[in-house]
Amino acid sequence: MTPDHAGAAADKVLIHPLVVRITHWINVLAMLMMIFSGWRIYNADPIFAFKFPRELTLGGWLAGALQWHFAAMWLFVLNGLAYVIYGIFSGHFKSSFLPVTPKSVWNEFKSALRGRLAHETGVYNAVQRAAYMGVICVLVALILSGTAIWKPVQFQELAALMGGYEGARVVHFVAMSLVCLFIVVHVVMVALVPRTFLPMLTGRARKPLPGHGG
Ligand code: HEM
Repeated sequence: MTPDHAGAAADKVLIHPLVVRITHWINVLAMLMMIFSGWRIYNADPIFAFKFPRELTLGGWLAGALQWHFAAMWLFVLNGLAYVIYGIFSGHFKSSFLPVTPKSVWNEFKSALRGRLAHETGVYNAVQRAAYMGVICVLVALILSGTAIWKPVQFQELAALMGGYEGARVVHFVAMSLVCLFIVVHVVMVALVPRTFLPMLTGRARKPLPGHGG
């Protein structure tokens, strides 16, 4: 390694811990399998007056899609549990997502609309903090409604909270739609600020020079 290269490596700081990176990318895989197989399951008995295009679905037929959905479900739940336990006990949630206030989210949201969203290396802005905590809550609603649909007899109290089996299906659909909205906005934001992508794989990013934006 040349002295220049050694200097460049030393300038890099760890901004995404290994557990966060591994669970993030496993989650992407599990989510994609769950969404596309879920659309195939929905098509077998639509709640609304539309179906998803067959080419966008996974599993081929209802039984195949159910197999995919249930297999990915375990990956998604166990991986999510590992992320949440790590996030709580390592202090990651506290240090990365807090503090966040409605005022800070609103102010940074307005700046974002003017194309001036703050993005300091290794620090999530208020809009990101709110979005990440929001999507985690939506994923919990997705799991609870999914559990009520999966075992409506064993978890009938849970289903009753959502207005019964059909109500739980609507909650599950709305939660899925919110997750899809999050994914679209999240991926567009990464495309707009592409230097955030590589650190989510390697964990490391260059420290901003004093006086320069990150
Ligand atoms: C191909 C799709 C995706 C890409 C390219 C992507 C990329 C990224 C990147 C680059 C970051 C770091 C942002 C930064 O440093 O400013 C991030 C963080 C995050 N992403 Fe994604 N993401 C994807 C899908 C998802 C999905 C499906 C979810 C959940 C439904 C998700 C949830 C999160 C969360 C919660 C964080 C914060 C992680 C933490 O620090 O604990 N992402 N993502």
